[in-house]
Formats: sequence, C-alpha cells, structure tokens
Amino acid sequence: MEQLVHSGLPLYLDETSLILAISASLKLESYSRKVTGDMKGLLACEQCIDAKAPFYDVYRDIAYPKDQALFQKYGYRYDITVILPGLAGGECKKTSGHYHGFNPTHTNTYGEVYEVLKGNALYILQKCGDFESHPDRVKIEDLYAVRVNEGQSIIIPPNYGHASINIGYGPLIFSNLALISCPVLYDAIKSHQGMAYYVFREEGRLRFHQNPHYEDLPKLKNAVVRQNPALGIEFGKPVYQSFVENPQAFDFLANPDPYIDAIMELLMIT
Ligand SMILES: [Fe+2]
Repeated sequence: MEQLVHSGLPLYLDETSLILAISASLKLESYSRKVTGDMKGLLACEQCIDAKAPFYDVYRDIAYPKDQALFQKYGYRYDITVILPGLAGGECKKTSGHYHGFNPTHTNTYGEVYEVLKGNALYILQKCGDFESHPDRVKIEDLYAVRVNEGQSIIIPPNYGHASINIGYGPLIFSNLALISCPVLYDAIKSHQGMAYYVFREEGRLRFHQNPHYEDLPKLKNAVVRQNPALGIEFGKPVYQSFVENPQAFDFLANPDPYIDAIMELLMIT
C-alpha cells in the first residue's frame, strides 16, 4: 500500500488493484467506476477499444467527521478520481469533460480546484459561453493544455470546460474541491465527441489531435501552473488542509466574479 502523501489524509493506493484504501477515520459518501464502454461518444477512436476495461474511478465526498460541518457550511465537497493506466485506441485515458453552470447573476460559471496526488496530469481547458444555448455547435474562445505535476494544484477558471487526462504511465490520482450546488453539464462535450483536442501517446511522445467536430478553434496554448496562497493554492501543501485552515481563501468557488483575473494569472504559458 502506498500512502497518497500529497493529500495529507490517510488514503492509500493498493498498487495491484489500483483501488484506494481509505482509513476508517475518514467518511466516504460513494464510489463509482467508469469502464471504457461508458466513454462512448467521447473518444477519438470508438472501434479500437476494449469496452470492459476500467477507465476511471471516483470516490465522492471524503472528509473527517470533525470537518463535515465546515464543508457543509461552505457547501463544498472533496472528491478523488483515479484515472487508470493505459491507452484507449492510442489515446490517453481521460475524464468525460464538462462545463459548469453559471452563477445566479449569469456573469461567470463556477470554478473548481484540482490537486494532483499521484502521476502526471494534463488539463484541457476550453472557454465557451454558448454551451447551454448552442450545445451542438459551440464557439470556443480560448484553449489551453495545462500540465500539472504531483503535488501541484490548478484552479479550473470559471467559464472553461475541462477534462483531466492521464499523460503518465501509471495511474493519475487527483482530488477536486468544488461547490456541491454547481451544475455539471455534459451535453455540449458529448455532442462534439469530446473536448477540442484528443491527446495520444505515440512512441513515447504526446501528440495533440484536433477534434474535427469543432470549427474555428483558437490556437492551443501550452501552460503550467503557478501557486497563490491567497487563493489557498500552495504547492506541496494539501488542499484539504488549506481549506480546513482557511476556508475563506476558497471563496472563489462560490463567488467567482471578483477572482477571474487572479485565477487566470495562475496559468503560465510556456
Ligand atoms: Fe468540473
């Protein structure tokens, strides 16, 4: 068993099954698994897959009982996702991808924090304002491929659809902290057969393939992440711990409007 030390929690990975062992001192609300067949309509190549192969696991709402009231007060939830190793038709395994709903004033959608606990992650971020009004034919206004390494975190900027991609050779394990009431919207991603780019690993190198179901895509910008302790993001310090110590730092999750510039500054184009 390997402890997921970057979480700061008593969470362990069974290296054989790649299932998490969660200490009885923590509460876990639910667990679910997606197999490759569940990703139908989201992969570059649908013919070249093993439909029964595990794809990713989600462990929802993890917290110490003593912290549950704090999570409830803010309306946030802490989950963990494990994207299993291996490729699907040459494509790196990934989450489905989705957009978040708008805040009540419809000025911005909600953001989210992802923290890489093990492995190497790439996040595709695609800015879009018409995913609800024109889900079949969206206009992507801005596009990033962001690499996030173990122990680092990324704030998914409001207004950006996002998917997590396992670009390493082992499992990719990451946590997310998000507003529970935030709507999660999949239709505009499904109707374009995935995000704007597919990521393949060919002969040990990553290759980005543009998704032909999108028109007039902006240039894909490669980026890495910066930290900002004022937003609770300190590399090497667990997000769970940052939240419990200073929950107000994560106000941007519930009230995105004043924080857009500060969040975008965390993406450093390479
Ligand atoms: Fe999300």
